[in-house]
Amino acid sequence: MNPNREIDMAGALEVSAPANAGSGNGAGVNQFRPDGSLRHLLTLEGFTADQIHALLDRAQGFVRTLGRRPPARHSLQGVTVANLFTEPSTRTRVSFELAAKRLGADVVNLEVQLSSRVKGESMLDTVFTLESLHVDVLVIREAEVGVLDMVASNVAPHVSVLSAGEAHVSHPTQGLLDALTVRQYKKRFDNLSIAIVGDIQHSRVARSAYHVFRALGVPDLRIVAPPAFMPKPDEFAGCSRHAALRTGLKDVDVIMMLRIQKERMTHAALPDADRYFAKYGLTPERLAVAKPDAIVMHPQPMNRGIEIASDVADGPQSVIRTQVRNGVAVRMAVLEAVMEQVTVE
Ligand code: CP
Repeated sequence: MNPNREIDMAGALEVSAPANAGSGNGAGVNQFRPDGSLRHLLTLEGFTADQIHALLDRAQGFVRTLGRRPPARHSLQGVTVANLFTEPSTRTRVSFELAAKRLGADVVNLEVQLSSRVKGESMLDTVFTLESLHVDVLVIREAEVGVLDMVASNVAPHVSVLSAGEAHVSHPTQGLLDALTVRQYKKRFDNLSIAIVGDIQHSRVARSAYHVFRALGVPDLRIVAPPAFMPKPDEFAGCSRHAALRTGLKDVDVIMMLRIQKERMTHAALPDADRYFAKYGLTPERLAVAKPDAIVMHPQPMNRGIEIASDVADGPQSVIRTQVRNGVAVRMAVLEAVMEQVTVE
């Protein structure tokens, strides 16, 4: 820990932890400090609508139209953020880096393929090394389920762990930026029909979207997928399930398209791209069954001509680039929230 900073825990022991403190990812990591402030962000499962709106409100304050200078703050001055990505990323990695820099933090990006992990160093030894180098926030993308919980369970009390995507189970900042985008366009959640379409089975984006939209009270949440990409029946409780785009998209307000997660399936399980597009690709004709003012979302990376036609991806109903812009604002909000308890002397 930076020697001129310390955790402000005044009164913390008198306050009980919130009921939703568990991560839900298995190990039951407490994501909140005893005073109710956010310490780690590993999953949105268990968050209340108020907790989500508080983060979205904070993020909205960081949103700027393109062409204006992005916000620059000093609230993370003296804080060091390390990005540790063991899977590829464009948007999440760049936006976490920009978010931390725009708040005044020092940022290190660990290239895992160039680090001592390839010599057999364990994840925890890497993490303890970063701790010794005064890293306060670890932003981790990881392909293996449970590693983030294990790291969060072992870091020093002043260190926060933020998920940048965990296997197929969770991508919480993506869920928040998706919710922020929907809130900007639709204003409220309690009257919405939202369809999540594509490879739901292998998608962490779908699971975080499910958690956030359920918490925000979306009454009609649909998952639309071929049988091979449908999640098991004990997941996505309360969602209606659709094998056909026509019924799945009928009169919806929001369509979230997902790519096929090739990296999480065997070659034999991969569908033929042309046949998939013919049945599940979002074209202008298929989009027309949704409400006329429906918005089209995609977390990216996009596979044009497989799950979405370019006419739709670049069309007037697409908010895909707005999602990317919101990603920096959401990550600024989360970084500021987890470091709020740390005082600079
Ligand atoms: N949406 C998303 O997580 O994109 P990246 O994989 O590029 O970070």
